[in-house]
Amino acid sequence: MLTIIESVNEMQQCADELRRRGKRIAFVPTMGFLHEGHLSLMRAGRQLADTLVVSIFVNPAQFGPGEDFDTYPRDLDRDLDLCRREKVDVVFTPSRPEMYPEYYQTSVQLATLPKHLCGLSRPVFFTGVATVVAKLFNMVKPHIAVFGEKDYQQLLVIRRMVKDLNMDIEIVGSPLIREPDGLAMSSRNNYLTAQQRPAALSLNEALTNAHQMIDSGTRESTPIVSAAQKIIDTHAENEIDYISICDLLTLEGVETIDRPVLMALAVRVGGIRLIDNSILEPTPQAG
Ligand code: PAJ
Repeated sequence: MLTIIESVNEMQQCADELRRRGKRIAFVPTMGFLHEGHLSLMRAGRQLADTLVVSIFVNPAQFGPGEDFDTYPRDLDRDLDLCRREKVDVVFTPSRPEMYPEYYQTSVQLATLPKHLCGLSRPVFFTGVATVVAKLFNMVKPHIAVFGEKDYQQLLVIRRMVKDLNMDIEIVGSPLIREPDGLAMSSRNNYLTAQQRPAALSLNEALTNAHQMIDSGTRESTPIVSAAQKIIDTHAENEIDYISICDLLTLEGVETIDRPVLMALAVRVGGIRLIDNSILEPTPQAG
């Protein structure tokens, strides 16, 4: 039976009771409009604990002015059905005033990780994410929390926050799930028209091409990034935010690919901001 909880107090009491009974709690935070990517995190969480808690909360603190907070897709009934099907135990759906009551003023800010990739064009984003996730951790009191590698930088930010603030929670990363045509699954894909889809697919094409260049011996980032730009720019509706080849832990740019690195990109497709990434792993060249 799925339990739906809207109040913070009730969520904390439920978590206390589960812990008192010796249950391990796995937690998957989401902003709803669930897709297979979210469901894969739930399945991973389910394997690792006795009780699975999913939160659904579109967090205003991580949207900047002019971003899509108001239009972000929402469908709670559909989400609850999907959670029932996945045998989720508790869905926590707090209201905005429940999360951020009047006079709210605290935030969690990281020093350097947010200065790269998505943080450059979304300056409030990672503070908003770290703050809401820290709050949700204090409400759900999980032993384990699962995050998708689709949002690689977010996963690093959460891992860093948990270490820095000594939170006793294991953070598990879960692989990026794609549509059959290769598009990285995202709630924002819902905005795409059929005409925009080929342009959206160019993100994955650019990553696939990067893998091919690595496999045929390229070890410099510049030609790989240039080739990616060319692939993405063939679609007039695309506007590149960033294409980066960077260190897996610090996200600092890497010139020579002499170890596994992250290739990450963000592109506005007709104004819809999509992200994608892949790890490039150079293998020793024969001969
Ligand atoms: P949301 O975009 O709803 O994503 C919730 C979780 O699902 C995140 O951990 C994200 O990385 C994961 N996810 C999304 N698409 C995925 C895909 N295609 N494959 C694998 N995992 C995927 O990320 C957020 O919400 C918010 O920032 C949140 C952490 C909930 C804080 O508000």
